[in-house]
Amino acid sequence: MAADQLLDGECQIWWARPDQVPDDVLASAVPESEQRRAGRYRQRVDRQRSLTGAWLLRAAVAAQTGERPCEVLLDRTCTDCGQQHGRPRLPAGSGIEVSVSHAGERVAVALTRLGEVGVDVEHTPLIGHFDHELAENTLSANELSALDASENPGVDFQRLWVRKEALLKATGHGLRMPMSRIEVSPADQPPMLLAWPLDIPVDQVRLAMLEPGPRHHAAVAVLTAAALRVRELDADLLL
Ligand SMILES: CC(C)(COP(=O)(O)OP(=O)(O)OC[C@H]1O[C@@H](n2cnc3c(N)ncnc32)[C@H](O)[C@@H]1OP(=O)(O)O)[C@@H](O)C(=O)NCCC(=O)NCCS
Repeated sequence: MAADQLLDGECQIWWARPDQVPDDVLASAVPESEQRRAGRYRQRVDRQRSLTGAWLLRAAVAAQTGERPCEVLLDRTCTDCGQQHGRPRLPAGSGIEVSVSHAGERVAVALTRLGEVGVDVEHTPLIGHFDHELAENTLSANELSALDASENPGVDFQRLWVRKEALLKATGHGLRMPMSRIEVSPADQPPMLLAWPLDIPVDQVRLAMLEPGPRHHAAVAVLTAAALRVRELDADLLL
């Protein structure tokens, strides 16, 4: 069995660096409309991250479907305004759910048949940096008091943040829903959703922390009651 094949019951996480994919590979796989979308970023590194995410998503899906990356059909309709800048989805019959995130030196794509999925990666350039005001605005009262007692609040905050953003990407809300309305397990404990205002019971949601490498934090959330098996893979397998 090929190493890149998506197994039932697993969630694949594909990792790339923004400089990992040759320009000609990006140009041939990513359609012009998506290249134009990446072009909205003023900084080159932001464009590279967005383009690499678009390529990685297409290449990871193509490895499952047998299509060429440029042939993969993706819908990115924004539920607010109808433009093509929302959550990416494959055609309903594919049975595969996807999510994309990029920050710092890491680009992540999640792929699973278990249920709707959200991945989030964050970059921490300054070791020890902690924005208390941001924590007050995004954490529940319990989370905030645990963080105030922590020896490493900056790292713990990032670990909570990526859990919450992954959850909000799995539901499709994104940052439209205040993060403070979600409560997750403490940063030093296995990641779990404890409470949120949605109708989906918390035991039908799975979370896992990921291994993005130094100065980055990442998590994945899947809307499923099944056990979550995560397999992290490098984009070199798709090149
Ligand atoms: C989804 C969201 C949380 C991502 O924020 P971020 O931390 O800047 O970015 P990340 O790198 O983690 O994720 C970006 C990717 O999320 C995906 N995405 C966009 N909207 C999404 C949504 N509602 N749910 C899940 N994923 C979404 C896209 O693939 C995007 O990558 P791309 O633009 O390069 O294709 C944020 O964009 C958001 O809250 N969007 C919803 C609100 C909004 O902007 N509405 C538009 C009104 S017109």
